Amino acid sequence: MPLSFRHLTSTKQLSRADTDVLLQTSAEMEDVLKKGDDDRLKGKILAALFYEPSTRTRLSFESAMLRLGGSVITADGFQFSSMYKGESIEDTIMMAGGYSDIICMRHPEQGSADKAASVSPVPFINAGDGPGQHPTQALLDLYTIQKERGTIDGLHVAMVGDLKYGRTVHSLVFLLGLYKNVRFTFIAPDALPMPDKVTSFLKEKKIPYEETTDLSAGLDADILYMTRVQKERFDNVDEYEKLKLKYVLTAPQLKGKKVTVMHPLPRVGEISTDVDKLPTAAYFRQARNGIPVRMALLAGLLGVI
Ligand code: NCD
Repeated sequence: MPLSFRHLTSTKQLSRADTDVLLQTSAEMEDVLKKGDDDRLKGKILAALFYEPSTRTRLSFESAMLRLGGSVITADGFQFSSMYKGESIEDTIMMAGGYSDIICMRHPEQGSADKAASVSPVPFINAGDGPGQHPTQALLDLYTIQKERGTIDGLHVAMVGDLKYGRTVHSLVFLLGLYKNVRFTFIAPDALPMPDKVTSFLKEKKIPYEETTDLSAGLDADILYMTRVQKERFDNVDEYEKLKLKYVLTAPQLKGKKVTVMHPLPRVGEISTDVDKLPTAAYFRQARNGIPVRMALLAGLLGVI
């Protein structure tokens, strides 16, 4: 079944029909991975443009493309790119679209993905635009929630940490807003609250949420989504140092709790390694889910699901 969009820059574009197709196709891609002989994207090329650091997102996009028989060309490192010479995002994308069948891009500027999509001659996927959006992470988070909890409707989701600059939580709230009776608890230092663009969406949709600075408010939720304080978005290093370890989740805090612990990774201290052995620690399974979900999205946008 086709998707309702040609480019993916924000989760706000997605309909419930889109997430249904993508979750279902992601599950089917797990079988494709097990069999290991799929070549439906043979002859197709993904241009992966990474102008901001990335490990998981980049590797999983590349792996997903290769698992479906496609190929990848890559440009990374801003200082080695034509953007460093002053080329506009639009010109870079028009050029890259001439070399490939689909493009994914990570870029430090919020709004860069919309600029790219406005001119891209081939399907374009936002792989993170500064503090803006990270829609493919949100899709793999959604898939993880469904796999771990068996449902998405009715869940209480607590989000913790840098809710101001953390693009993954922005994208995920919009997606969860497509489901029934989901409610949120946002746990952040006063300096890093969930931005208005997200809370005004929740108000408009009459989706309940609470805001607090207290981590214990999330320990009895269904999902505890931890995030890293986004060092690269701070002008003042002292301010970052003050906030970076405001929330540290440890195994004793989770004793007797059923909450599923998620994190987009990388973690830099906010989940102690003693949590890793708990069956409710889902973050490494979550990272792995990036492969089937990105396979589903690439196949969907290239018209082969
Ligand atoms: C996230 C990102 O890049 O926004 N990482 C990722 O894609 N898995 C989260 C982060 O960097 O904190």
